[in-house]
Amino acid sequence: MTESESVANAEDGTKIETTAFDPRILVFTCNWCSYAGADLAGTSRLQHPPNARLVRTMCSGRIDPVFVLEALRDGADGVIITGCHPGDCHYVKGNFRAEKRFNFLKMALKQLGVEEDRVRLAWVSAGEGEKFSLLIKDMTDKVRELGPNPFKPASVKSI
Ligand code: FES
Repeated sequence: MTESESVANAEDGTKIETTAFDPRILVFTCNWCSYAGADLAGTSRLQHPPNARLVRTMCSGRIDPVFVLEALRDGADGVIITGCHPGDCHYVKGNFRAEKRFNFLKMALKQLGVEEDRVRLAWVSAGEGEKFSLLIKDMTDKVRELGPNPFKPASVKSI
């Protein structure tokens, strides 16, 4: 979603129409914790920006760094990987694997010149609806500050 807003021209005070940037955020969730946390945020009617699109996986350990790179290549402005807290993964070590892969991903993004704040790893339990909601709000604000993903294809419009 893009919104038009008017700002005053510094030189003559006339109004200038600008388009506010509304980022696309892709959120990978694990079935057992963070998806349930997102669901709780919804059923608790907690407000957060409508910029996030969720992809539900069985475990954060399923998220290959290539998925994140492809999301950025295909038009996402930011990506969040979420999962159960360390020690709570339903597949025992999935989130530890996710953390290792995430560290690798950050190095790869640095090599590509992508700002590291465009990706985030967060642990959200099924009872942390408020944390999930705040995570989406914070990430949306952060990516809005960064501006559009420079790798976004021209054919992908803002939401
Ligand atoms: S099941 Fe949630 S991180 Fe593995």
